[in-house]
Amino acid sequence: MCGIVGYVGPRDARDVVLEGLRRLEYRGYDSAGIAVVADGTLTSAKKAGKLANLEKVLADQPLPAATIGIGHTRWATHGGPTDRNAHPHLSADGTVAVIHNGIIENFAVLRAECESSGVEFTSDTDTEVTAHLLAAAYTALPEGPGRLAEAMRTVSRRLEGAFTLVATCVAEPDTVVASRRSSPLVVGVGDGEYFLGSDVAAFIGHTREALELGQDQVVEIDRTRGVTVTDFHGATVQPTAYTVDWDAEAAEKGGYDWFMLKEIAEQPRAIADTLLGRLGANGGLVLDEVRLSDQELRDIDKIFVVSCGTSFHAGLIAKYAIEHWTRIPVEVELASEFRYRDPVLDRSTLVVVISQSGETMDTLMALRHARDQKARVLAICNANGSTIPRESDAVLYTHAGPEVAVASTKGFLTQIVACYLVGLFLAQVRGVKYEDEVAAIVADLRRLPDAVAEVLAGMDAVRELARELADANTILFLGRHVGYPVALEGALKLKELAYIHAEGFAAGELKHGPIAVVDQGTPVIVVVPSPNSRESVHGKVVSNIQEVRARGARTIVIAEEGDEAVVPFADHLIRVPRLPTLLAPVVTVVPLQVLACEIADTRGLDVDQPRNLAKSVTVE
Ligand code: F6R
Repeated sequence: MCGIVGYVGPRDARDVVLEGLRRLEYRGYDSAGIAVVADGTLTSAKKAGKLANLEKVLADQPLPAATIGIGHTRWATHGGPTDRNAHPHLSADGTVAVIHNGIIENFAVLRAECESSGVEFTSDTDTEVTAHLLAAAYTALPEGPGRLAEAMRTVSRRLEGAFTLVATCVAEPDTVVASRRSSPLVVGVGDGEYFLGSDVAAFIGHTREALELGQDQVVEIDRTRGVTVTDFHGATVQPTAYTVDWDAEAAEKGGYDWFMLKEIAEQPRAIADTLLGRLGANGGLVLDEVRLSDQELRDIDKIFVVSCGTSFHAGLIAKYAIEHWTRIPVEVELASEFRYRDPVLDRSTLVVVISQSGETMDTLMALRHARDQKARVLAICNANGSTIPRESDAVLYTHAGPEVAVASTKGFLTQIVACYLVGLFLAQVRGVKYEDEVAAIVADLRRLPDAVAEVLAGMDAVRELARELADANTILFLGRHVGYPVALEGALKLKELAYIHAEGFAAGELKHGPIAVVDQGTPVIVVVPSPNSRESVHGKVVSNIQEVRARGARTIVIAEEGDEAVVPFADHLIRVPRLPTLLAPVVTVVPLQVLACEIADTRGLDVDQPRNLAKSVTVE
């Protein structure tokens, strides 16, 4: 939430910052702004709405050429999405410009303090106060190198909440400083140039060399001194360096109309990369990243899977698989609820946190709560160098590559695959009940990339269906067993992209109330389990299809190849390849992703940047 860019180097900072903002716009698109320091002047421009609005302003009134600059793309928290609330915010004397991601919880007290000393505020944000405080702290310090960074430390110590702050100051034309607590910030190191970004996309067009920052740290990027990192009290810290394993091309649309379409198409590759090196030649699993000893893994007596949104749905699928393979009880919880209900955790509890971005604040807070209770935390994450894996005991990276569309697709499929790996690995270490089945499943994992490619090759009928459903007011999704989380995910995708009322139900629950909303012509999408599944819920779901059809529903059925029992009851039939029941979500969810994307496109909506949303949710 909120994208942040900072630059010091030889190039024109206006171009570097705007390019960074373009790549970070998925983090928020309520407003955009930029500030540069050139020839002893700090100049800024900002505009409500998407980055394109700011670019129009800059075309009419260009900023001066400069070699340092900062830029921001906003997801509004405090204060509406207006010009005056757009970042950067300037100090009253115009000497300091600040951009911010996060929430400053004690801003009201600090604002009152500034107002009592005569400062007039020009926005409704929690951010502006930091510009005034920073200018005052800077003025109070003696001249000398590192003065802006020292001022930033002074201010940061007074702030409560979560923040990444980036500041530039008219008196320091070679320096940008930043501070972070719980909100994301990475440093990019190029050849004689330095970048700051909410994530590496901000500078991936220029360098793949990055530095991870920890909690409560201040970083200075300076034309001659390079990168200096300290804690909030000035003690020097050595940041961890890493090389980003994807390049700028991976974050381009590559000829697709939408990033989401490209990311859906990339799923076979993303799954293959997530499996790469983890399936051993002898049918066993190799998960060296899980830095828990075999004894620690054997001691686990309970698992919580904690995550949000689409990642929560991956967790629900994980429950079915992990409990079945390992016989360890698994609870799945929304991260925003987990922390506040006092869950029972101890050393023998494994908490699996799932996050594509690695920055989701609800998940991060749940993780910290779990660690405080001495539970072991294993992160499943896509973003290298992000906060959640950094604070976990172990991490299993998904290798989806950058996910730019706000709605998660390849992130989701690779999370499911990573959950299978965790479950099977636990089963391997602890010994399992269904030994033959588990061995066969490991072999079936290798089939997943081709199975998804096969589904993608047959999506023309789904595109056609999307045009027919584009005017629907309500669409219902039904599933049982692992088909239930798939139904929830299908409904979420449709809501967030097409703004159509959609709900996912456990098919067996329908008769306990929700069936009352089924009316003549109501589209009902049903995810049907395999007729061969050992859980034998297939027949029950076929009955559920008939129940809704008897009440006038238009049925859209997703069923595996060769399942003839569903044919008489399906107004539309979407076929997917046959897989073991527990692996089936990897294929059954794909038509639902395509359907939501195509319905949104047919309705003329912005598929990649749906209204009110942002990619990385860094506030609670
Ligand atoms: C929906 C979507 C969100 C995210 C959720 C968690 O398409 O993308 O529901 O899944 O905000 O995000 P991460 O996985 O980054 O923690």
